[in-house]
Amino acid sequence: MQKITIAIDGFSSTGKSTVAKQLAKHLGYIYVDSGAMYRAVTLYTMQNGWIDKDHFDVIALVTNLDKITISFKFNDQLGFAEVYLNGENVEKQIRTLEVSSYVSKVAAIPEVRYQLVKQQHQMGKDKGVVMDGRDIGTVVFPNAELKLFMTASAETRAQRRYDELINRGDQVNYEDVLKNVRERDYIDSNRENSPLTKAEDAIEIDNSNLTLEQQFEKILSLVKKAIDK
Ligand code: CDP
Ligand code: CDP
Repeated sequence: MQKITIAIDGFSSTGKSTVAKQLAKHLGYIYVDSGAMYRAVTLYTMQNGWIDKDHFDVIALVTNLDKITISFKFNDQLGFAEVYLNGENVEKQIRTLEVSSYVSKVAAIPEVRYQLVKQQHQMGKDKGVVMDGRDIGTVVFPNAELKLFMTASAETRAQRRYDELINRGDQVNYEDVLKNVRERDYIDSNRENSPLTKAEDAIEIDNSNLTLEQQFEKILSLVKKAIDK
């Protein structure tokens, strides 16, 4: 069967990575969580004290980008690839609310995007890839055969993310999660370099009222159409 590129963009906690993993498993494709790459760079920045918390700013990162190596390794038990930062598995550490509170600042830096997009091109060069993020259909793979743009209300998304963080044992409150979701929506949509925006040829899916199963079935039928085209 012909292999295609599937680009999934959208706001935080719209179910992008969940459906991307389901599709990759179903189709035997590679799944790439591009957000995990920006989160890993952010974690490194935090570990090195390069976040100026008083001014909500990032310092010293650009000149040290060559010290960061990001890779993915497939975990058979989990059924998806986990992210590694300089050889260390950081899959859990990158999902905290603290990383979420700085990631959009780091992701707005052009040099960071340049490096990560270069790597994403490489990972998707043979097609047979599902990649999710903010600029996949617009910048990374503008020729993707299928582009999806996922949305849901901010409150629904914050509730989903809150449940996830509580389930993994993080001490957070719903208001802080909602604030972070809104802040990231704003920064990601308004940055100069590769802002989050729906590609003209992307199909918009509002999943506020869709279960994971309904969402998967709907998207799988779009994938089949794109493959048959
Ligand atoms: O999982 P969630 O939707 O909360 O976020 P993510 O996909 O892990 O992405 C975290 C952050 O990375 C986003 O809020 C963006 O600031 C940035 N990002 C980006 O700028 N471009 C991408 N292709 C993916 C993520
Ligand atoms: O990757 P992204 O940040 O867009 O979202 P996700 O990590 O796939 O989904 C965030 C949370 O919302 C997960 O716990 C999903 O199970 C949940 N979700 C849901 O309950 N119903 C949906 N239709 C989509 C996502």
